[in-house]
Amino acid sequence: MITLKSKREIETMAESGALLASVHKELRKFIKPGITSWDIEVFVRDYIESHGAIAAQIGYEGYKYATCCSINDEICHGFPRKKVLKDGDLIKVDMCVNLNGAISDSCWAYVVGKSTDEIDRLMAVTKKALYLGIEQAQVGNRIGDIGHAIQSYAEQEGYGVVRDFIGHGIGPTIHESPAVPHYGVAGKGLRLKEGMVITIEPMINTGTWKMKMDPNGWTSYTLDGGLSCQYEHSIAITNEGPLLLTSQGEEGTY
Ligand code: MF3
Ligand code: CO
Repeated sequence: MITLKSKREIETMAESGALLASVHKELRKFIKPGITSWDIEVFVRDYIESHGAIAAQIGYEGYKYATCCSINDEICHGFPRKKVLKDGDLIKVDMCVNLNGAISDSCWAYVVGKSTDEIDRLMAVTKKALYLGIEQAQVGNRIGDIGHAIQSYAEQEGYGVVRDFIGHGIGPTIHESPAVPHYGVAGKGLRLKEGMVITIEPMINTGTWKMKMDPNGWTSYTLDGGLSCQYEHSIAITNEGPLLLTSQGEEGTY
Protein backbone atom coordinates (compact mmCIF):
# COMPACT_ATOMS: atom_id res chain seq x y z
CA MET A 1 0.00 0.00 0.00
CA ILE A 2 1.27 3.45 -0.89
CA THR A 3 0.58 6.16 1.69
CA LEU A 4 0.29 9.75 0.50
CA LYS A 5 1.80 12.26 2.90
CA SER A 6 0.11 15.51 3.94
CA LYS A 7 1.84 18.91 3.64
CA ARG A 8 2.38 18.77 7.39
CA GLU A 9 4.01 15.32 7.24
CA ILE A 10 6.24 16.45 4.39
CA GLU A 11 7.34 19.47 6.44
CA THR A 12 8.31 17.17 9.33
CA MET A 13 10.20 14.90 6.91
CA ALA A 14 12.00 17.97 5.54
CA GLU A 15 13.18 18.82 9.09
CA SER A 16 14.50 15.28 9.45
CA GLY A 17 16.13 15.58 6.00
CA ALA A 18 17.76 18.90 6.86
CA LEU A 19 19.41 17.31 9.89
CA LEU A 20 20.62 14.41 7.75
CA ALA A 21 21.99 16.82 5.13
CA SER A 22 23.92 18.66 7.84
CA VAL A 23 25.59 15.38 8.83
CA HIS A 24 26.80 14.92 5.25
CA LYS A 25 28.07 18.49 5.12
CA GLU A 26 30.09 17.80 8.29
CA LEU A 27 31.41 14.54 6.80
CA ARG A 28 32.95 16.47 3.90
CA LYS A 29 35.36 18.02 6.40
CA PHE A 30 35.71 14.92 8.58
CA ILE A 31 36.68 12.32 5.98
CA LYS A 32 40.42 12.28 5.32
CA PRO A 33 43.28 9.77 5.03
CA GLY A 34 44.11 8.12 8.36
CA ILE A 35 40.60 7.93 9.83
CA THR A 36 38.58 4.69 9.84
CA SER A 37 35.00 4.03 8.83
CA TRP A 38 34.39 3.26 12.53
CA ASP A 39 35.37 6.91 13.26
CA ILE A 40 32.66 7.94 10.75
CA GLU A 41 30.11 5.69 12.49
CA VAL A 42 30.84 7.19 15.93
CA PHE A 43 30.80 10.76 14.56
CA VAL A 44 27.48 10.26 12.75
CA ARG A 45 25.77 8.50 15.63
CA ASP A 46 26.86 11.17 18.15
CA TYR A 47 25.83 13.99 15.80
CA ILE A 48 22.34 12.55 15.19
CA GLU A 49 21.70 11.71 18.84
CA SER A 50 23.02 15.04 20.14
CA HIS A 51 20.53 16.78 17.83
CA GLY A 52 17.56 14.99 19.41
CA ALA A 53 17.09 12.42 16.65
CA ILE A 54 17.44 8.65 16.31
CA ALA A 55 19.92 6.87 14.03
CA ALA A 56 17.15 4.83 12.41
CA GLN A 57 19.27 2.13 10.76
CA ILE A 58 20.27 0.72 14.17
CA GLY A 59 18.11 -2.33 14.79
CA TYR A 60 16.47 -2.17 11.35
CA GLU A 61 16.03 -5.79 10.27
CA GLY A 62 18.91 -6.67 12.59
CA TYR A 63 21.34 -4.11 11.17
CA LYS A 64 23.66 -2.89 13.94
CA TYR A 65 25.02 0.47 12.85
CA ALA A 66 23.96 4.07 12.26
CA THR A 67 25.75 4.07 8.91
CA CYS A 68 26.50 1.84 5.99
CA CYS A 69 30.09 2.62 4.95
CA SER A 70 30.76 0.94 1.62
CA ILE A 71 34.29 1.29 0.26
CA ASN A 72 35.51 0.96 -3.37
CA ASP A 73 34.02 -2.29 -4.80
CA GLU A 74 31.47 -2.56 -1.98
CA ILE A 75 28.13 -1.58 -3.52
CA CYS A 76 26.11 -1.08 -0.34
CA HIS A 77 25.54 -2.17 3.27
CA GLY A 78 29.26 -2.16 4.11
CA PHE A 79 29.79 -2.36 7.88
CA PRO A 80 31.67 0.51 9.51
CA ARG A 81 34.92 -0.94 10.82
CA LYS A 82 38.44 -0.17 12.03
CA LYS A 83 40.00 -0.16 8.58
CA VAL A 84 42.15 2.91 7.93
CA LEU A 85 41.05 4.95 4.92
CA LYS A 86 43.75 5.99 2.45
CA ASP A 87 44.21 8.36 -0.49
CA GLY A 88 42.00 7.38 -3.39
CA ASP A 89 39.46 5.29 -1.46
CA LEU A 90 35.87 5.90 -2.57
CA ILE A 91 33.50 5.67 0.39
CA LYS A 92 29.70 5.82 0.28
CA VAL A 93 28.10 6.77 3.60
CA ASP A 94 24.39 5.90 3.83
CA MET A 95 22.18 6.68 6.83
CA CYS A 96 18.60 7.19 7.99
CA VAL A 97 17.53 9.83 10.50
CA ASN A 98 14.33 9.66 12.55
CA LEU A 99 13.38 13.10 13.88
CA ASN A 100 10.00 13.32 15.61
CA GLY A 101 8.83 10.14 13.90
CA ALA A 102 9.74 11.28 10.37
CA ILE A 103 12.46 9.30 8.60
CA SER A 104 14.81 10.62 5.94
CA ASP A 105 17.38 8.60 3.99
CA SER A 106 20.42 9.86 2.10
CA CYS A 107 23.68 8.34 0.90
CA TRP A 108 26.61 10.44 -0.26
CA ALA A 109 29.93 9.48 -1.84
CA TYR A 110 33.29 10.84 -0.70
CA VAL A 111 36.75 10.41 -2.08
CA VAL A 112 39.41 10.12 0.61
CA GLY A 113 42.31 12.54 0.05
CA LYS A 114 43.66 12.57 -3.49
CA SER A 115 41.29 11.41 -6.22
CA THR A 116 41.86 9.84 -9.63
CA ASP A 117 40.31 10.58 -13.04
CA GLU A 118 38.46 7.23 -12.86
CA ILE A 119 36.86 8.12 -9.51
CA ASP A 120 36.06 11.71 -10.52
CA ARG A 121 34.24 10.55 -13.64
CA LEU A 122 32.31 7.79 -11.83
CA MET A 123 31.21 10.24 -9.10
CA ALA A 124 30.15 12.91 -11.59
CA VAL A 125 28.13 10.46 -13.69
CA THR A 126 26.48 8.89 -10.63
CA LYS A 127 25.48 12.28 -9.22
CA LYS A 128 24.14 13.43 -12.58
CA ALA A 129 22.21 10.14 -12.91
CA LEU A 130 20.56 10.84 -9.54
CA TYR A 131 19.49 14.33 -10.60
CA LEU A 132 18.23 13.11 -13.99
CA GLY A 133 16.07 10.63 -12.06
CA ILE A 134 14.85 13.36 -9.71
CA GLU A 135 13.82 15.52 -12.69
CA GLN A 136 11.39 12.75 -13.62
CA ALA A 137 9.79 12.60 -10.16
CA GLN A 138 6.81 14.65 -11.29
CA VAL A 139 3.08 14.28 -10.70
CA GLY A 140 1.66 12.36 -13.68
CA ASN A 141 4.95 10.72 -14.70
CA ARG A 142 5.49 7.01 -14.15
CA ILE A 143 8.03 5.09 -12.05
CA GLY A 144 9.62 3.78 -15.26
CA ASP A 145 10.45 7.34 -16.31
CA ILE A 146 12.78 7.66 -13.32
CA GLY A 147 14.60 4.37 -13.97
CA HIS A 148 14.82 4.99 -17.69
CA ALA A 149 16.42 8.42 -17.25
CA ILE A 150 19.06 6.98 -14.91
CA GLN A 151 19.79 3.81 -16.85
CA SER A 152 19.98 5.31 -20.32
CA TYR A 153 22.41 8.01 -19.19
CA ALA A 154 24.66 5.73 -17.06
CA GLU A 155 24.85 3.01 -19.72
CA GLN A 156 25.61 5.55 -22.42
CA GLU A 157 28.59 6.53 -20.23
CA GLY A 158 29.70 2.89 -20.25
CA TYR A 159 28.70 2.05 -16.68
CA GLY A 160 26.52 -0.66 -15.11
CA VAL A 161 23.37 0.11 -13.07
CA VAL A 162 22.86 -2.15 -10.05
CA ARG A 163 19.59 -4.10 -10.23
CA ASP A 164 19.51 -5.83 -6.85
CA PHE A 165 18.96 -2.71 -4.73
CA ILE A 166 16.42 -0.04 -5.52
CA GLY A 167 14.83 3.14 -4.21
CA HIS A 168 11.65 3.00 -2.12
CA GLY A 169 8.83 4.87 -0.50
CA ILE A 170 9.67 6.34 2.91
CA GLY A 171 7.77 7.92 5.81
CA PRO A 172 7.30 6.69 9.37
CA THR A 173 9.24 3.57 8.25
CA ILE A 174 12.43 3.28 6.17
CA HIS A 175 11.17 1.04 3.39
CA GLU A 176 7.63 1.53 2.07
CA SER A 177 5.93 1.09 -1.28
CA PRO A 178 6.45 1.89 -4.07
CA ALA A 179 9.61 0.18 -5.31
CA VAL A 180 11.73 2.62 -7.33
CA PRO A 181 14.14 0.77 -9.65
CA HIS A 182 17.03 2.68 -11.24
CA TYR A 183 16.41 0.95 -14.56
CA GLY A 184 13.22 0.66 -16.57
CA VAL A 185 11.07 1.63 -19.49
CA ALA A 186 9.80 5.17 -19.97
CA GLY A 187 6.02 5.45 -19.68
CA LYS A 188 5.68 2.16 -17.75
CA GLY A 189 4.81 1.48 -14.15
CA LEU A 190 2.92 3.23 -11.42
CA ARG A 191 1.80 6.81 -11.95
CA LEU A 192 3.32 9.32 -9.52
CA LYS A 193 0.95 11.32 -7.33
CA GLU A 194 1.17 14.41 -5.17
CA GLY A 195 2.16 13.38 -1.63
CA MET A 196 4.27 10.35 -2.49
CA VAL A 197 7.66 10.43 -0.81
CA ILE A 198 10.38 8.25 -2.30
CA THR A 199 14.10 7.75 -2.37
CA ILE A 200 16.14 7.70 -5.55
CA GLU A 201 19.53 6.11 -4.91
CA PRO A 202 21.31 4.81 -8.01
CA MET A 203 24.31 2.52 -7.48
CA ILE A 204 26.52 2.80 -10.57
CA ASN A 205 29.48 0.50 -11.31
CA THR A 206 32.49 1.05 -13.57
CA GLY A 207 31.95 -2.47 -14.94
CA THR A 208 29.16 -5.02 -14.69
CA TRP A 209 25.98 -4.31 -12.71
CA LYS A 210 26.17 -7.82 -11.27
CA MET A 211 27.01 -8.31 -7.63
CA LYS A 212 28.11 -10.89 -5.09
CA MET A 213 27.10 -11.08 -1.44
CA ASP A 214 29.38 -11.23 1.56
CA PRO A 215 28.86 -14.18 3.91
CA ASN A 216 27.84 -11.57 6.52
CA GLY A 217 24.47 -11.53 4.71
CA TRP A 218 24.50 -7.74 4.22
CA THR A 219 27.41 -6.36 2.23
CA SER A 220 27.33 -6.61 -1.56
CA TYR A 221 30.34 -6.21 -3.87
CA THR A 222 30.72 -5.71 -7.60
CA LEU A 223 31.14 -9.12 -9.24
CA ASP A 224 34.14 -7.95 -11.29
CA GLY A 225 35.85 -6.01 -8.48
CA GLY A 226 35.23 -2.65 -10.22
CA LEU A 227 34.35 0.50 -8.32
CA SER A 228 30.79 1.33 -7.29
CA CYS A 229 29.38 4.75 -6.45
CA GLN A 230 26.05 5.90 -4.97
CA TYR A 231 24.18 9.10 -4.17
CA GLU A 232 20.72 9.14 -2.61
CA HIS A 233 18.11 11.76 -1.80
CA SER A 234 14.67 11.51 -0.19
CA ILE A 235 12.18 13.37 -2.41
CA ALA A 236 8.56 14.48 -2.02
CA ILE A 237 6.44 14.57 -5.17
CA THR A 238 4.45 17.79 -5.19
CA ASN A 239 2.35 19.75 -7.66
CA GLU A 240 5.24 22.24 -7.70
CA GLY A 241 7.69 19.51 -8.77
CA PRO A 242 10.14 17.26 -6.90
CA LEU A 243 11.01 18.59 -3.43
CA LEU A 244 14.44 17.50 -2.18
CA LEU A 245 14.12 16.70 1.53
CA THR A 246 17.81 15.92 2.03
CA SER A 247 19.32 18.74 -0.04
CA GLN A 248 22.78 19.95 0.95
CA GLY A 249 22.25 23.24 -0.89
CA GLU A 250 24.25 24.54 -3.84
CA GLU A 251 27.47 22.73 -3.04
CA GLY A 252 25.87 19.32 -3.03
CA THR A 253 24.16 19.58 -6.40
CA TYR A 254 25.69 19.02 -9.79
N1 MF3 B 1 19.70 3.62 3.91
C1 MF3 B 1 19.46 2.34 3.27
C2 MF3 B 1 18.63 2.59 2.01
O1 MF3 B 1 18.98 3.43 1.28
C3 MF3 B 1 18.84 1.39 4.23
C4 MF3 B 1 19.77 0.30 4.48
S1 MF3 B 1 19.01 -0.92 5.39
C5 MF3 B 1 19.92 -0.97 6.81
O2 MF3 B 1 17.63 2.00 1.74
F1 MF3 B 1 19.49 -1.93 7.50
F2 MF3 B 1 21.19 -1.07 6.50
F3 MF3 B 1 19.74 0.12 7.45
CO1 CO C 1 17.16 4.27 0.70
